[in-house]
Amino acid sequence: MSHYSIKHIEEYWQIYRKSVRNPEAFWEEIAEEHFLWRKKWDNVLSWDFKKPEVKWFEGAQLNITENCIDRHIYTRGNKTAILFEPNNPNEPAEHITYKKLHERVCRMANVLKSKGIKKGDRVCIYLPMIPELAVAVLACARIGAIHSVVFAGFSSTALATRINDSECKLVITSDGSYRGPKTIDLKGIVDDALETCPCVEKVLVVKRIQSEIQMKEGRDEWLQPLLNEAYSDCVPEIMNAEDPLFILYTSGSTGKPKGMVHTTGGYMVYTAYTFKNIFQYREEDVYWCTADIGWITGHSYIVYGPLANGATTVMFEGVPSYPDYGRFWDIVQKHKVNQFYTAPTAIRALAKEGVEILEKYDLSSIKLLGTVGEPINEEAWHWYDDNIGKRKSPIVDTWWQTETGGVMISPIPYVTPTKPTYATLPFPGIQPALMNELGEEIKGNQVEGRLCIKFPWPSIARTIWGDHNRYKDTYFSAFENMYFTGDGALRDEVGYYRITGRVDDVIIVSGHNLGTAPIEDAINEHPAVAESAIVGYPHDIKGNALFGYVILKDTGESRNHDNLRKEINQIITEQIGPIAKLDQIQFTSDLPKTRSGKIMRRILRKIASNDISNLGDTSTLLNPEVVEKIIDQVIVKA
Ligand code: WT7
Repeated sequence: MSHYSIKHIEEYWQIYRKSVRNPEAFWEEIAEEHFLWRKKWDNVLSWDFKKPEVKWFEGAQLNITENCIDRHIYTRGNKTAILFEPNNPNEPAEHITYKKLHERVCRMANVLKSKGIKKGDRVCIYLPMIPELAVAVLACARIGAIHSVVFAGFSSTALATRINDSECKLVITSDGSYRGPKTIDLKGIVDDALETCPCVEKVLVVKRIQSEIQMKEGRDEWLQPLLNEAYSDCVPEIMNAEDPLFILYTSGSTGKPKGMVHTTGGYMVYTAYTFKNIFQYREEDVYWCTADIGWITGHSYIVYGPLANGATTVMFEGVPSYPDYGRFWDIVQKHKVNQFYTAPTAIRALAKEGVEILEKYDLSSIKLLGTVGEPINEEAWHWYDDNIGKRKSPIVDTWWQTETGGVMISPIPYVTPTKPTYATLPFPGIQPALMNELGEEIKGNQVEGRLCIKFPWPSIARTIWGDHNRYKDTYFSAFENMYFTGDGALRDEVGYYRITGRVDDVIIVSGHNLGTAPIEDAINEHPAVAESAIVGYPHDIKGNALFGYVILKDTGESRNHDNLRKEINQIITEQIGPIAKLDQIQFTSDLPKTRSGKIMRRILRKIASNDISNLGDTSTLLNPEVVEKIIDQVIVKA
């Protein structure tokens, strides 16, 4: 018997040791006992981090939607699979049972087929958090199409880049979306994007906000009439374990976004097993993850992980501040949420509103709390523990990444004693290592280094779509035979991990992963801009905020700096989305550069953070005098 649900810390250690001693046997047992395979694997694992290549459950055949839907119909067909809570609190919530979900996914799958979508084709999904989003994801998986969900807060340029990179044939979108008191013209954004996307043949449109939109003849169609006509059953496409399931884009420190490719069998096993343990899900529980399905958290822990376990998973369309800052707690009370999973930035924003608002709500259903996306500071951790968990609900601080597919380091609630700001211990099967700058592993406790993973786990991304070399360079080149995460971490005296943050040029703002390069590229498109550099600096709510140093072209004419700041943020909004707007912009005449021409961001970061007491070694700078100049400009002004 595999220990599918871990109950004691001794059991954790026993399982952990087993998972390291013999990973193949460990994962094989779990895969064998808890999932539906059409054919078993020939080989559990083959891997080579040098190539790099990782294959789990090779030769096995399955369809992930049979595991997430069909097999539950007999045992829990009338149980709510997806509990949809609309943006408007007066609009009734929708309970979609497993039976109903099956029907809706099958209809959608048949519509996709009727539009010519086949196994291996890419489908872009650009939808708000409405049930059709989850249904579309599952419908793709049903027929073996590769979904590429793009977060509906991205701009038309960002959407077009992603559609073109993976050559999507079809886009599923909606007329618009609700976001608190506002509506957003999603279809208009899609129309703009598709001006530059020759690969897209069809657009299917969900009616959500009843807005007047343009439908392009021959390309665009309303989805609902097609769904009504479609047959309500659809035979699942039988997939190989290593067939791609989806592509999800994430920012890198350089270049265009990376289309991380996740495959079917290993991803299913890992997300299901982690979900079960990290949220200690029981049959009657209502689980809510507040993320958007446009991010990996939503893929793994709103859709696939929970559904593979037959869970009830809440999908919330709105925002935490609408109609007021009590909305999350209103939903917890209304649906008696047992597991609540959100991001530190949301916790900080809610904490700022004070505790009075909490008194109006009954939060007694909550059994455990989760956090994800960025390091959680001590203050936020305690606020969450005291006021939401009432000191009786363990907090699982889950560290992971788009690339890892599932949670890697996290307490197991009621099993691992928690420690504020610590993600604590690796999940079974995960072998972390801390590395120094010389590429050596730092052994022992009370040490700090760069966080790597030594051994493959089932849901590791297999490649970057269309660019395997970049996959190798980004993750497998910094340290030999290791997956490099891009994060720094420390290990305390008992072996607990605390993630200290990115050690590369990725900045996490409000839990969103933003690369500096795409933002700088956007700024540099402004005709008055010669060069720019972006750094992050600490921010009370967002974790990090963005500070831009901008050098203007010398045209002889003087420009109004406030107008320029607005224009620069406008360009960023158009090219990436409002999430990447700069909080501060400083115009400067020069940037500190090394002799090889690299901008020394470390110094810019310190100046932006108002921390100039120790700037470190500046001897390798080509132009040390600019440092003083920039300090004068930034610090005097502030
Ligand atoms: C980066 C990955 C994992 C889903 C959401 C983000 C940071 C994530 C934690 C945590 C400290 C965290 C890391 C990581 N991060 N969770 N619990 N504690 N940092 O996925 O957009 O791929 O971002 O988020 O820096 O590398 P992502």
